[in-house]
Amino acid sequence: MLRDKNLVPLSRQHQHALALCVRIDRASPIGDSDLAAWQREVTQLVQTEIGIHFAAEEQVLFPAARKFQELVPLVDDLLADHVDLRAQFAQANNQTLAAADLSVAAQRLSAHIRKEERQLFERLQKLMSHEELALLGKQLDDALQAAAQACILPTDATKLRAAK
Ligand SMILES: [Fe+2]
Ligand SMILES: [Fe+2]
Repeated sequence: MLRDKNLVPLSRQHQHALALCVRIDRASPIGDSDLAAWQREVTQLVQTEIGIHFAAEEQVLFPAARKFQELVPLVDDLLADHVDLRAQFAQANNQTLAAADLSVAAQRLSAHIRKEERQLFERLQKLMSHEELALLGKQLDDALQAAAQACILPTDATKLRAAK
């Protein structure tokens, strides 16, 4: 089914994350000399997009989906994925994720995204009215924007630099 325009911002971020997962998959098995660089790249995408994306799903998308009884088990499953994936992102951030675990994390992330696209988004587009989808899209935009702004608030260091 064609993606509803109100879900496109999330789908676009899914494409970015999937592209990284595919590259990790192609590079696997990852050698020790490349491991740090891959962990940094994962961390960078988590900091610029995935963290914001997870927050918007948890604050806006999942509560909206939970209103439909048939979607409750799927939402629980997706939330559990977020918990697992966050633990692995934290290890990547600390540079403590083993190469084999990095490949597994990439597979888990792509499986999670496919579940959202093929199951959650598809069902939501059928279950929600145009008005409900429009409201959801607006709330998602607000959540994505608020999170993005919180991430680029100047730190003391950058404020000082700007004042010079
Ligand atoms: Fe998700
Ligand atoms: Fe997602």
